[in-house]
Amino acid sequence: MRKKIVAGNWKMNNNLEETEALLSELSAKLPNTHADVVVAPTYVNLATAQRNLQSSAIKVAAQNMHYAENGAYTGEISADMLLNIHVDTVILGHSERRSYFGEDDALLAKKVQTALDKNMTIIFCFGEELEERKSDNHFTVVESQLKNALFQLDGTAWENIVLAYEPVWAIGTGETATPEQAQEMHAFIRKTISEAYGDAIAEEVSILYGGSVKPTNAEDIFGKPDVDGGLIGGASLKADDFIAIIKAI
Ligand code: G3P
Repeated sequence: MRKKIVAGNWKMNNNLEETEALLSELSAKLPNTHADVVVAPTYVNLATAQRNLQSSAIKVAAQNMHYAENGAYTGEISADMLLNIHVDTVILGHSERRSYFGEDDALLAKKVQTALDKNMTIIFCFGEELEERKSDNHFTVVESQLKNALFQLDGTAWENIVLAYEPVWAIGTGETATPEQAQEMHAFIRKTISEAYGDAIAEEVSILYGGSVKPTNAEDIFGKPDVDGGLIGGASLKADDFIAIIKAI
């Protein structure tokens, strides 16, 4: 049975005190849930988050990482540095990394391989721009993003991969994809994986939806058969909203 997951991508938010306060409130209010719950603070607060959550069911993820072991990469963080503080889950390919920092499929394929070499869990993000959907190219774009960064992998690698479909036009805009739009794309993604790797692997891959998920829309989106949870931005910064979204799965 594939995992249900609710992950909070905090992006560039929360200083040390705000991080500790939010984690304390989330830990206190966390409901019993069959879903995996993940939070992704900024790099500077990861070690504190990991320490504060070590007896909690909430897992900690990094928002990014470099593909190199170490070396002259000013400002970057390696997989080993994350593992050294017991963070073994990493978000890769977020649209903001792609658009603001020029991360392309080839670079992401290298990051994916490094994370797999270290047996990390990857939350791999992808999704179309508004004009790509308006021109009815969204399926082509999504298929290309998946194939260029992930389809060189062998079947066993998919045990470490969680997919996060995040239509760029829905991120931070309040323009959420409808549950039907999310289901249509998630079903397409699962079919695309099945055609390359077979039904057994495709059925086991958790596919999260991200893009303006809120307490008011989470239940309808999560209720779709090929939606296995969410990658939450803004709403993950408010404990009550994030808890309400967890309760919706
Ligand atoms: O990674 C999740 C994020 O991109 C979604 O942001 O604020 O639309 O929930 P938001």
